[in-house]
Amino acid sequence: MLLERVLGDGARQLRQRRVERRIDTCGLRVRKSLEAFDWAFQPSLNRAFIENLATLAFIDNREDLLITGKSGTGKSHILQSLTLRACEREIRVRYTRCVDLIDDLYAGLADQTYDTRLQKWARAEWLVIDDVGLGQLRRRDDEPTAAHILFNLLDSRHEHAPTALTSNIKLSQWGKYLGDATLAAAILDRLAMTSIRVDIDGPSYRDELARRRAKDHGIVDDST
Ligand SMILES: Nc1ncnc2c1ncn2[C@@H]1O[C@H](COP(=O)(O)OP(=O)(O)O)[C@@H](O)[C@H]1O
Ligand SMILES: [Mg+2]
Repeated sequence: MLLERVLGDGARQLRQRRVERRIDTCGLRVRKSLEAFDWAFQPSLNRAFIENLATLAFIDNREDLLITGKSGTGKSHILQSLTLRACEREIRVRYTRCVDLIDDLYAGLADQTYDTRLQKWARAEWLVIDDVGLGQLRRRDDEPTAAHILFNLLDSRHEHAPTALTSNIKLSQWGKYLGDATLAAAILDRLAMTSIRVDIDGPSYRDELARRRAKDHGIVDDST
């Protein structure tokens, strides 16, 4: 009995350590939780739908996920909290911002490690690409475009390993942002076939935080 309990505790501790290591190495820089999400602030968002996503059944079903919406509406918060849940479930998840992913692969082109780096991203059981549209992507005429790189990666994952993306720009602007309209359309075509779509049409929590801070400092904002 006692031995069983000791072994049980030991196994639990080992598992917890594995989970912590996964959280530390998956690419997350912050730990956000759905419990901390203020649903009342974003009333157009379907809470039951998002909580159902948090069961992560869509990962088992190999469904992609695409969350769009203006800046500050909680897209990253939601994906970061799902990433945390995936770590707790010991899913091999990798989280990255789009610019960092593209930068990493460009670095691979420069030092001949592109294929290994691409493999690393392609192999993740669940890949989370946050903030497509945010940040300046490198653009040089002698290198493939970001659209090309992203297409390669998503193509190698398509139908066997799911990917989640968020974007703060309209899908029609992906071509301009990623540097190739045709390939961006091809990426979106694939995603359209396999992805769950969530559009958050509502206020910015960042603006709300700024308003609260201003209020705390006695600065009155007349614009609202
Ligand atoms: N409904 C919400 N409840 C609590 N915090 C929120 C909510 N929406 C956003 N935030 C917080 O506001 C900040 C900006 O949100 P974020 O998810 O990064 O927005 P987005 O990715 O859509 O630009 C983050 O610190 C996030 O945790
Ligand atoms: Mg974001």
